[in-house]
Amino acid sequence: MDLRQVGLTYERQSGKDPSGVYYQSDVLQILPFLIQAYRARVQCIYLDPPFATGKRFSIRVKVGEKDWKSGRGSLDQLVYTDRQPIEDYLSMMRQVLQGCRELLSDSGLLYLHIDYRMNARLRLMLDDIFGEKNLLNEIVWAYQTGGRAKHFFSRKHDTILLYRKTRNYYFDIKSVAYVKTTGRNNHMKRHVDPDGRIYRSIRSGGKVYTYYEDDPVYPTDVWDDVSHLQQKDPQRTGYDTQKPVALLDRIICSSSRPGDLVMDLFAGSGTTLVSAGKQNRRFVGVDCAPYSFHVVRSRLKEWNVDYYAPPCIGNPALRVRGFTGIGYYEVELLEYALESGLGPRVFSGMDALDNWSVGYFRDGAFEPFASAWRSRSTPNIETHLRLPVFTGTPMIRVADVLGRYFFYELNKDGFEI
Ligand SMILES: C[S@@+](CC[C@H](N)C(=O)[O-])C[C@H]1O[C@@H](n2cnc3c(N)ncnc32)[C@H](O)[C@@H]1O
Repeated sequence: MDLRQVGLTYERQSGKDPSGVYYQSDVLQILPFLIQAYRARVQCIYLDPPFATGKRFSIRVKVGEKDWKSGRGSLDQLVYTDRQPIEDYLSMMRQVLQGCRELLSDSGLLYLHIDYRMNARLRLMLDDIFGEKNLLNEIVWAYQTGGRAKHFFSRKHDTILLYRKTRNYYFDIKSVAYVKTTGRNNHMKRHVDPDGRIYRSIRSGGKVYTYYEDDPVYPTDVWDDVSHLQQKDPQRTGYDTQKPVALLDRIICSSSRPGDLVMDLFAGSGTTLVSAGKQNRRFVGVDCAPYSFHVVRSRLKEWNVDYYAPPCIGNPALRVRGFTGIGYYEVELLEYALESGLGPRVFSGMDALDNWSVGYFRDGAFEPFASAWRSRSTPNIETHLRLPVFTGTPMIRVADVLGRYFFYELNKDGFEI
C-alpha cells in the first residue's frame, strides 16, 4: 500500500502512571525552555555528565534473531564523543548547574556524578553556585570492575556530590535502610535473645551498647554495596556508561516522595527514568544522542511518556500491506531494508529493523497502539500488528538498528478487505 513519510517530532505513549517526558536535545538548547516549564518544581536532579575523559563512547546494538537469542550485540555504533575543549566543557557545566538551581524546589536536592578528573573543579563550581554550606555529602561509589593498575592505585570509585538548595530540604534515610548480611559488628560479643534473634554487645565508657544483626542500617557516604553492571547483567542495554538501577533507587527513594518530579539532563540509557518510574516518581529526561532515545524508548514501554525528538533523515525501503477486519486494521510488514551502501555492514531479511509500531496521528502527536519488540524469548520481529478503527490518521513508526526512526501515514483507502 501507499506510504507517505512524515517528519514528526512528538510521540505520546500511553501506559501506566507515573508519567514522564523525554527530550532528545542538547542540554543547553533546551535548558531555557525547561526553566520556564519547571522552575522550582523539581525535587531531585541527578546528573551523570561526560567526565572529560577524551574518549568515545559506543553502544553494542543487538541485530536480528541471532543477537537477540544470544543476548550479545554485534554492531558497535558511536554514541557520543567526550572530547570538547575543557573551557567549553566547564562553561557548559556552569550553565547546566546554574539552571539546576533554578529548577529545584526549595526542598530539592542535586546529585552530580563525576570522577577524579573533574571532581575538584566541579565541586568548587557547585560551592560557588549553591553555596559551600549546602554541600551535604561527597558520596564515594566504590566498585570492583576490570583490571588492576601497576603504576598507581587502581581507580575504583566515582564521586557523587550532593547539594541541597535550601535548609528546608527533603531527605528520608529510613527509606533506604537495609539489613547487612555479612561482616557486621563481628568484633563484638555475640548473644541470642529468648526469641532466637542474634545481637551483639560492647561495653564502652561504662555503658553497654547492643545491636541486633537484623536491625536495618542506614547507608553512609561510602557506597560499596551497589555493584557496577557485570557483563551478563540483564539490565545491560549495550550503552557504554550505563549505571545500575540500584544506584538511582537509593538516590531517588531517599531524596523524593512518590509523585515528586525527578530530572536527569544527561539521561543516557535512561537509568534515572527507569528508577523514577519504578518508584512512582514523575520524570523528565534529556539527552542529545539519538541512541539514547532509542534505548530509553525500549526501557520505558510500561509508562505514560511524551517523547520529543527531531525527525531522522533517510529513505529506507519499506513495504507493507493493510487489511480491514471488523473494527480493526491489520498491518503486515513485508520489507524493511536500509538504503544501499548505508551502515557498516549488509543486513539480511528484517535484521535492520529493531522495532515498529502502529498507531494514529492525533492532536499533533503519534500515538502508538501496538508495537513489536524483539526480546530474548521472541528474537524474531512480529510482522503483523492490529490497530482498532478510531478517528485520526493511521500511521506506522519503524526504528532501525542505526538508531533512526521514521513515521509513515497509511492511506485508509489502501486497506484490503
Ligand atoms: C555518562 S552518560 C549518562 C549515562 C546514564 N547515567 C545511564 O545510566 O545510562 C552521559 C550522557 O550525556 C549525554 N550528553 C553529552 N553531552 C550532552 C549535551 N551537550 N546535551 C545533552 N546530553 C549530552 C551523552 O549523550 C551521554 O548519553
